[in-house]
Amino acid sequence: MTVTWDSLARGLADEMWAEGVLRSPEWRAAVEAVPRHRFVPRFFTQDPEGDWSETSSADEGWLTAVYRNEPLVTALAVTANGNRVTVSSSTKPGLMVRMLEALDVRDGHRVLEVGTGTGYNAGLLSHRLGADRVFSVDIGAELVATARVRLADLGFVPSLSVVHGATGLPEHAPFDRIIATCSLPKVPWAWAEQVREGGLVLVDIKRSVHAGNLVLLTRHADRLEGRFSSRWAGFMAIRDADVAPEVRSAAGDLADGTRSTTGLDPLPWSSLVPWFLAHARLPGELAFGYRGASDQGQPEWATFSAIDGSWCAVRIRADGNGRREVRQGGPTPVWSVFEAAHEDWLALGRPGWDRFGLTVTADGRHEVWLDAPDSEQRWLLPM
Ligand SMILES: C[S@@+](CC[C@H](N)C(=O)[O-])C[C@H]1O[C@@H](n2cnc3c(N)ncnc32)[C@H](O)[C@@H]1O
Repeated sequence: MTVTWDSLARGLADEMWAEGVLRSPEWRAAVEAVPRHRFVPRFFTQDPEGDWSETSSADEGWLTAVYRNEPLVTALAVTANGNRVTVSSSTKPGLMVRMLEALDVRDGHRVLEVGTGTGYNAGLLSHRLGADRVFSVDIGAELVATARVRLADLGFVPSLSVVHGATGLPEHAPFDRIIATCSLPKVPWAWAEQVREGGLVLVDIKRSVHAGNLVLLTRHADRLEGRFSSRWAGFMAIRDADVAPEVRSAAGDLADGTRSTTGLDPLPWSSLVPWFLAHARLPGELAFGYRGASDQGQPEWATFSAIDGSWCAVRIRADGNGRREVRQGGPTPVWSVFEAAHEDWLALGRPGWDRFGLTVTADGRHEVWLDAPDSEQRWLLPM
């Protein structure tokens, strides 16, 4: 029996409903009616060696893969040093729907999306609100051109623009909601100026790889303020130009570093909250990488490096006593800062994301707080 896309879309909606992320009949109707396969005619998969392969609509299994609750890489670009890197993807449907539900979209709302990508999310928004209330921008000119055609083929004509998303879209402001589907190190104040008072901004704040989370901010007269999502999520980082972002190489010469040992796992996803909090005391974005290879071909060291030359390297495998070697160099002892942030977080009773919030003001100040904005526990993120 031939499987049809609409039965697959219904299956996807059922799965997300059962998981509890899809909750409202309006978004359920959008998931069932907007054909994701029309936005993802091909996707790319990376094997463990790092090589990419393409699956297109001509391939068996493509249609069912597109209706799985999985993110799909949809655009690659080549960096100056010849690496193929992801520049666009179709977000995992469960995450997309979770964000749309959190955004509390009501009939008549006007929504700005930053990160058009394939156009699928703009399609869901257009189904829910009417395309004349949907505005979406991407830095990728070809992405926007392709999304425009795909949406128009389905009868949706939202306003799509090629701009750097940090500028927003002042000519179409004010918006009731702004949703970003790429991560940013800071919330641009331009967005606050373009969302009406009482309106919402949903954005993935990431200071470095994995260092942050989704935060839902309300526009007050003098600030944006709100709480982080209780579940962690991660988006690809914002790019400053329509090219492949360069991957900064990590760490100095391990032989030059000061030596110590640690009881902590160096992989950022093993301690997300303290990893984020450490960024209040770290010199800007850290590049994450691996160094060396074990006999089994696994990377030996996790490395982190900042733009000011600070770096650290930590062995991934612990010894029999649960300790790992550490090397650090440069002006800021990156690993020691992380260990101190981890200690502080333990002393606070290991609070989860749901207890943290963020306040952003017009001067660019970003303050993270525990439980309430006037809490004694606050972390100012460096400008
Ligand atoms: C995860 S994809 C978005 C997925 C999209 N919402 C969809 O439904 O397919 C992230 C997108 O952010 C875009 N992006 C990166 N930097 C940007 C910038 N400075 N301004 C606007 N968009 C940007 C990328 O080109 C990419 O298409």
